[in-house]
Amino acid sequence: MTQRNAFAAVCYLCLFVAGCTSGRKATITKEPPSLKALYKNDFGIGTALNTEQIEEKDPKAAELIARQFNMATPENIMKEEIIHPAWDTYNFDLADKMVEYCKKNDIKVNAHTLIWHSQMPAFARRIQSVDSFRTFFTNHIKTVAGRYDGKVYSWDVVNEALNEDGTMRKSVFLQKLGDDFVTDAFRIAQEAAPHTQLYYNDYNNEQPAKRAGCIALIKKIQAAGVRIDGVGIQGHWHLGKIPLKDIEESIVQYSALGLKVMFTELDIEVLNRNFSGADVSQTMQGGSSNNPYVNGLPDSVQQKLASDYEALFRLFLKYKNNVSRVTLWGVHDGQSWLNGWPVRGRTNYPLLFDRNYLPKPAFYAVAALKK
Ligand code: XIL
Repeated sequence: MTQRNAFAAVCYLCLFVAGCTSGRKATITKEPPSLKALYKNDFGIGTALNTEQIEEKDPKAAELIARQFNMATPENIMKEEIIHPAWDTYNFDLADKMVEYCKKNDIKVNAHTLIWHSQMPAFARRIQSVDSFRTFFTNHIKTVAGRYDGKVYSWDVVNEALNEDGTMRKSVFLQKLGDDFVTDAFRIAQEAAPHTQLYYNDYNNEQPAKRAGCIALIKKIQAAGVRIDGVGIQGHWHLGKIPLKDIEESIVQYSALGLKVMFTELDIEVLNRNFSGADVSQTMQGGSSNNPYVNGLPDSVQQKLASDYEALFRLFLKYKNNVSRVTLWGVHDGQSWLNGWPVRGRTNYPLLFDRNYLPKPAFYAVAALKK
């Protein structure tokens, strides 16, 4: 029996005994261990919340969120297109609800994201003049980061500014504002939000070339005397291909810059994909061979997923003094964005809780590390 299975068996037994002694029928699934409690001395355990969850329209999710997580990222509702839909219009309703919901449940908010080339409002894409674009950029950061200072724990100030080879992505921000836009964004954010942790976030920035670009970018911000508190590695990885060595090297190198490291959007894709990373504009051909697990995940794959998660969390624990947070990109499999990207309508299984909100073997593998 593996350590993981032994731990799961002990949990089941305790619940069974508790159920018998209280005269109730024991349901082994009601009270799984709490990850936030198990990891409380190590790092924060986060999740991404969708609109339904923020509006408390999903009671089963609400139970899970309160029990398992002490940090949360809005999956979409703080992105530019939602929070700032027109030049003079800001829509804070859902973001305010998120802040309130998290306060009530003792959850820290990791706000996401101020400056990103995806999910931008149409009006911002249409701005022609450099001056107007800079005004949009400045107003956006000042207004949004300013409003939530002291209410959210952190901001992903800039998301995905880099190409895979470590050069700067030719985004609308780079084209209009030039190479220094990242430093400028942090400078404006530090003024508007002096009490908020400020992070740079990207995918594949554990890979050597992109990591080197990321380090250069961070050094540039620091050299300008501007505050940056941490770097987020998104962590959209693939089953059996977790780049553990690159992740370890990245934790070491980013920490050497005096930054906290966090894993901000963790999920492990179990379906086929012909590229790595998480460029939301990239798509792939569908087809049933690309969607083999509609009726359930075979046990062998489930076990592999558990081993991958176990190896990852073992590594995170080794560096618990440098890693401040691990956030799963969603509460349960049914909600994962990977059911719709990069192929629409697939049945994916990337998280720790299944479609019935029940813990998977991967959950017990992660919990068992803290036994
Ligand atoms: C994704 C959301 O999960 C989806 O609901 C949305 O349609 C597209 O964006 N990197 C990021 C996240 O930084 O904001 C993305 O979230 C996933 C990739």
